[in-house]
Amino acid sequence: MKKLSKGFFFVFEGIDGSGKTTHLKYAKMALEREGFPVLATREPGGTVVAEKIRSLILEDTPVEKLCQEAELLLFLAARAQHVKNVVLPSVRSKNIVLCDRFLASTFAYQVYAQKVVNEAMFFLMNSLASYDLKPDFTFFFDVEVKEGLRRATKKREINRIDKKSIEFHQAVKKGFEGFFSKMPEDSWEKINTKNKFEKNKDKVIKRILEVITASR
Ligand SMILES: Nc1ncnc2c1ncn2[C@@H]1O[C@H](COP(=O)(O)OP(=O)(O)OP(=O)(O)O)[C@@H](O)[C@H]1O
Ligand SMILES: [Mg+2]
Repeated sequence: MKKLSKGFFFVFEGIDGSGKTTHLKYAKMALEREGFPVLATREPGGTVVAEKIRSLILEDTPVEKLCQEAELLLFLAARAQHVKNVVLPSVRSKNIVLCDRFLASTFAYQVYAQKVVNEAMFFLMNSLASYDLKPDFTFFFDVEVKEGLRRATKKREINRIDKKSIEFHQAVKKGFEGFFSKMPEDSWEKINTKNKFEKNKDKVIKRILEVITASR
């Protein structure tokens, strides 16, 4: 096993069906083949408690609708559990952590599209939930909204958030774009997944290896 001098936290972001999970699984396999210690995880989820919160968020309960404020707080509660119990310990143990969704998703869905709280308040709440952990690098997978939804719903069960309108999903995409436009250029990369997976898969690995080598 290769030893790293520090741990790394890579985040995979984008709308539904943009290719996050496909790329993350491939990256895990490729990095492990190179001998690196890798942990693949996701948000909401990644711990027993946070996975329970995920079910609560995603299930469609006809009995009682989850209000938007409670939804945001649940996402952040799941993040606190996940960051404290899984991500931080794993980064401290010098692993490469690959995480499916993180801060940008909460911003795009809950802050930009649903306008649950203003940005200043959101970033304060998030700093509590994430213990101020920042990704070393974020990949933003980009695809047309309709194509993304078509891909996503073809391969898994449709959840409460998928069922929202096209306009909602378009607003989410804009939310991601706005979020990344304010981030330092060297902290993220947009991967257009209009092309076949094969065309992009090595871009992600190449960039991960560059980030690791640059700070070794
Ligand atoms: N260029 C591409 N990159 C990644 N996936 C692609 C690409 N082209 C087509 N696909 C297909 O699109 C689907 C993308 O789904 P994937 O589960 O990776 O997306 P996701 O972003 O994780 O979605 P969700 O938000 O629903 O979890 C997969 O079935 C994959 O094979
Ligand atoms: Mg996925």
